Amino acid sequence: MVKIGVMASGSGSNFQSIIDNVANGNIPDSEVVLLICDKAEAGCIMRAKKAGIDAVQLNPASFPARQDFDLRAANLFERAGAQLICLAGYMRIVTRVLLDRFPNAVMNIHPALLPSFTGLEAQAKQLEYGVKVSGCTVHFVDDKVDHGPIIAQAAVSVLESDTKETLSKRILEKEHIIYSKAIRWFAEKRLKIEGRRVRVQGVMRAGSGLRVL
Ligand code: GRF
Repeated sequence: MVKIGVMASGSGSNFQSIIDNVANGNIPDSEVVLLICDKAEAGCIMRAKKAGIDAVQLNPASFPARQDFDLRAANLFERAGAQLICLAGYMRIVTRVLLDRFPNAVMNIHPALLPSFTGLEAQAKQLEYGVKVSGCTVHFVDDKVDHGPIIAQAAVSVLESDTKETLSKRILEKEHIIYSKAIRWFAEKRLKIEGRRVRVQGVMRAGSGLRVL
């Protein structure tokens, strides 16, 4: 049984998708044990309440430094028994204080094909730059922004008619799929980190006859 802690700041559609995929068995043998949110009245808190998941709102202004905020979060997750921390639309940079308490067990989702377009407003930056292919990335978190070893990616086409909203929506649909896939692999203990590469054990080369996922 893998206990999952989630950090989110916004509407929480990725959080919801994790809840749903745990419930329907797509993420096997797992439980979402705690949501930590840094924003008052964020949609993710309502989603936690509806699903009967403990939720804590921590106000960053009440902590002298990022490290103090992360220390509180790490203590809460530890008390809840969390073994994997999923950042799901979490808008703060996490520090070593949290990462060291959950080594190789903090994941993030980013709405671009990393290493391109890190940071905020990734979808707008991609449109502005004129890319024809966009997508999303699930990666382990390290102490640089949107940087750690990549677990899964999915691509989407950028259409002539795209606005920031339409592109974000198309990317989000893929986010929901690959985030749960990555968590499933983690729960199945199939992820092996070798430097920057994350090997997914049990996924064979094309043509081997073994289905991916
Ligand atoms: C997603 O696009 C995620 O990649 C980014 O923030 C957005 C959060 O969306 N980090 P939601 O709150 O999960 O709906």
